[in-house]
Parts: sequence; structure tokens; C-alpha cells
Amino acid sequence: MLLIFILAVVAAVSRSEEDIMKNLTTVTWAHAVNNKTYLEAALASEVSMLEADIVMGTIRGKDGPPLPIMAHPPATTSDLTLADFLSAVAQYNKGNSKPKGVKLDFKSIEAFEKSQDLIAKYTKPEVNFPVWLNADILPGPVKATTKPVDPVKFLTLGSKHPRAVMSVGWTTNYGKNVTEGEYSRDQIGTMLRMINEYKINQTVTFPVRAGLACNSQPVLLDLLRETTSLNSSMTVWSSEGDAVEVDRMRALILTVGLERTYLDVPHELAARLHLPPSDVGAKN
Ligand SMILES: *[C@@H]1O[C@H](CO)[C@@H](O)[C@H](O)[C@H]1NC(C)=O
Ligand SMILES: *[C@@H]1O[C@H](CO)[C@@H](O)[C@H](O)[C@H]1NC(C)=O
Ligand SMILES: *[C@@H]1O[C@H](CO)[C@@H](O)[C@H](O)[C@H]1NC(C)=O
Ligand SMILES: *[C@@H]1O[C@H](CO)[C@@H](O)[C@H](O)[C@H]1NC(C)=O
Ligand SMILES: *[C@@H]1O[C@H](CO)[C@@H](O)[C@H](O)[C@H]1NC(C)=O
Repeated sequence: MLLIFILAVVAAVSRSEEDIMKNLTTVTWAHAVNNKTYLEAALASEVSMLEADIVMGTIRGKDGPPLPIMAHPPATTSDLTLADFLSAVAQYNKGNSKPKGVKLDFKSIEAFEKSQDLIAKYTKPEVNFPVWLNADILPGPVKATTKPVDPVKFLTLGSKHPRAVMSVGWTTNYGKNVTEGEYSRDQIGTMLRMINEYKINQTVTFPVRAGLACNSQPVLLDLLRETTSLNSSMTVWSSEGDAVEVDRMRALILTVGLERTYLDVPHELAARLHLPPSDVGAKN
């Protein structure tokens, strides 16, 4: 009786790990993990990926030159440096069978440049958790005016960490009054050219904003097809309140495939997508 129970538990665990391999939408996210309190809470939670922002700044109450800290612009102070953030995550993950990954969202090229030694330290072969290096490196829809992070420098430095996932996207102007738009063929083409020109040869993912991505299926399929050798995927994200054509979004995700789509959207939108259930359970 006990043996059967144990076998059932083992089967359930291995099934869920297998499912994550095929169904990247099962990966869950914590956002803006930019202070000590929230980092502790996120590490204690069930989420699998911690997304956090990096800017140059200072630790509150301490003097000294600016250094990479966890904060979202316009903030330039924090109680957490990137060094302390990574060290806490590594400590948590040590010997852990379900290590949590990090998606480091660099808000300036200076912050990325000054983080190189730390990134190298946490992308060594013995490190057991995924490290994603993220930045908006190209101007995107709809006529976005946010200044992108220098693409040449970001790709050149990023390629020096081949075990890290390169997560490269476009600035966006959406939500509020902007409820229609798409990624243009030019915007997609520029990304593709840069990835080829700077000889990216590591896993890549393209963060795309749901409301815009759902109107861009043909060009996104091209982008993913052309980068198949990089094990490319898309990471669909959305801000609270973004207008999203749910049926089109669902069609895009199912065409690209659950094995190539990370889904990082508000719960309400995720639920409305009605992704098809796994039939693995039914067969057992
Ligand atoms: C810590 O971060 C969380 C998530 O970004 C935020 O909700 C919270 O207000 C922050 N706390 C402090 C003290 O900054
Ligand atoms: C949104 O549109 C309204 C009315 O056209 C305008 O007054 C407001 O400034 C716009 N807001 C933004 C953020 O563009
Ligand atoms: C890409 O990297 C792999 C090792 O990760 C290497 O075997 C391969 O030769 C590289 N390809 C190119 C075109 O540099
Ligand atoms: C893609 O995945 C395969 C299988 O896991 C791996 O051998 C290869 O190195 C990966 N290539 C890149 C560029 O990530
Ligand atoms: C994939 O994962 C999502 C989110 O956990 C779930 O809703 C869906 O049923 C899964 N589908 C498959 C085919 O595994």
C-alpha cells in the first residue's frame, strides 16, 4: 500500500518535470524582485523564475560610487545590490532539486557592463539555475520613444556568457490610449540581422507584448523559424490593462507551440486563453 503510494508520488513528480520541458507556459514568474523583503518572499514561494530590474545606483543610506542595484527606473536606490541578489538566489538553490531561475532585466548598458564579472560567476558550468539576460535593445511598436539599451554592446557582451539565455526584445508603447499595433517586418528583421551579425550562438528568447504579438503572427513565426538552431522561444508578457485579442493570442501560442512559449501575463489573461490541457494525466 505504502509502496504504491510512493510510486504514485514519484510518477507525479517526474511527470510534472517532463511537462515543464514540453509546456513552457507552466513556468511561473515573480516580478520586480528588487528588494530584500520581496526576494525572501519570492524564494519562499512556488514560483520558478524571478524577474528583477538592474540599474546603476546606490544602497540607501550608504555612500560610494554607483553600482549595479536592483531597482526599476526612475529609482536609483535600493536595499539590494545585484551581487547580494545573486548570492541569495545561489544560496537558496544550492543542492535544491527545484532551483529557481533569474531573469535579469538590464535597464541601461552601463548596468550591464558593470555586471559582467557577476554574470560570469553565476553562469559557470557548476551553477544549477538558469540565468536570463534581458534588455529591450531595439525600438518597437507603437512608435515607442523609450531609449533602447545599446544593442551592439548588449549582444557582444552577452555572447561572452554562452550558458546564459539571451532575452532580447523591443521597447513598446502600448496600453493607456494605445490599444492597436503590431511588430513590423522591419523591427523583426533588424533583430534577426543583429543576432546573425553578432554571431549569437546560445539559447535565445524574444519577449513580446501580448497585445502586439497577437497581431504579428506571420513575422513572429519567421523570427522563430530563422532562429531554431538557437533553441529560440518567445516570452509573451503583458501589462495589467493591456488590450489583447484573446482568440488571436491563443492561436499564436498554439501555432508556435507550448514547448516554445513562455507565458508571463496577468492571471486573468492567462485564464482567458484557455490553453488546452495536458492529456498525459488522462492516459495514466
Ligand atoms: C518590494 O518589492 C515589491 C515587488 O516589487 C513591492 O511590491 C514592494 O512595495 C517593495 N517594498 C519596498 C519596501 O520597496
Ligand atoms: C489619452 O487620450 C486623452 C484624450 O484624447 C488625452 O487627454 C490624454 O492625454 C491621453 N493620454 C495619454 C497617456 O496619451
Ligand atoms: C556554437 O556553440 C557550440 C557549443 O555550444 C559549438 O559546438 C558550435 O561550434 C558553435 N557554433 C558556431 C557557429 O560557432
Ligand atoms: C539547443 O539545445 C540542444 C539540446 O538541448 C543543445 O545541445 C544545444 O547546445 C542548444 N543550442 C543552443 C544554441 O542553445
Ligand atoms: C500547459 O500548461 C498550462 C499552464 O499550466 C496549462 O493550463 C495547460 O493545460 C498545459 N497544457 C499542456 C498540453 O500541457
